[in-house]
Amino acid sequence: MFEINPLSEALGAEVVGLDLAKPLGDDVFATVHQAHLAHQVLVFRDQQLTPEQHIAFSKRFGALSGHVFDQFLLPDYPEILKVSNKKKEDGEFAGLPQAGRRWHSDLAYTATPSLGSLLYALEIPPEGGDTLFNNMYRAYEALSDDTKSRIEGLKAEFLLGSGRKFYTDAERPALTAEQLAKVPPVHHPIVRTHPETGRKALYVSQAHTVRILDMPEAESEALLAELTEHSVQPEFVYRHKWRLHDLVFWDNRCCMHIAEPPPPAYGRHMHRTTVVGDRPY
Ligand code: OGA
Ligand code: MN
Repeated sequence: MFEINPLSEALGAEVVGLDLAKPLGDDVFATVHQAHLAHQVLVFRDQQLTPEQHIAFSKRFGALSGHVFDQFLLPDYPEILKVSNKKKEDGEFAGLPQAGRRWHSDLAYTATPSLGSLLYALEIPPEGGDTLFNNMYRAYEALSDDTKSRIEGLKAEFLLGSGRKFYTDAERPALTAEQLAKVPPVHHPIVRTHPETGRKALYVSQAHTVRILDMPEAESEALLAELTEHSVQPEFVYRHKWRLHDLVFWDNRCCMHIAEPPPPAYGRHMHRTTVVGDRPY
């Protein structure tokens, strides 16, 4: 048997003693699925996964997407995005560098954003490089009634990079014209209903939300800043300190996450699969 232990008051649980390299029976899968819905972030400890096994487990939750940064997909495994601060011998990045340095939810800038992402730690620094997750159900529920009614029905524009330039090209390559054409801006509600739990969650992100539609710019900026600041208060956040061979599966429909930069002297190398989700409503 395996254990599921909560990791914080806010969200997150670790799964200990379950080997994801082997196909899961339907009963075990149902337990894992329910735990994911309940805890929003699951940390599977001590996994030894080949790319095939990582992909096979991920696919139990739905179809997998590639990534617009297609130069960082694992050769022969387009379902796996490499996330890395390392460089190859030819001087190119070994994976997407500077990933997730602002609070965000994966693929929020697409028409059908991700259900969840599964990030597998192949190399981690001795310290630093933590990933923080927040609970967007709690963030929504804790809003005042006034704010809830103020934001009811509002939609926002989402865009990769949100049109703001967060990185120099040396830190992270710019999108090519061909890649840019694949990620036009999209519109989503800023409060969404989780399609499986039926609960309402806030849906804004520092990295991708450009502006609230039908609202003057200054008001939109102020409201987005207010909602983000509110939703990442410590009481809504779980800080994940990585252990080697953790596989972390988060729910992009009810969480944001942010990655802290690892100390530059140390390598941090991860493999990510990304499950396709529904159009937010
Ligand atoms: C991601 C991301 C977080 C990290 O892979 O989606 O935001 O900790 N990365 O590397
Ligand atoms: Mn991310």
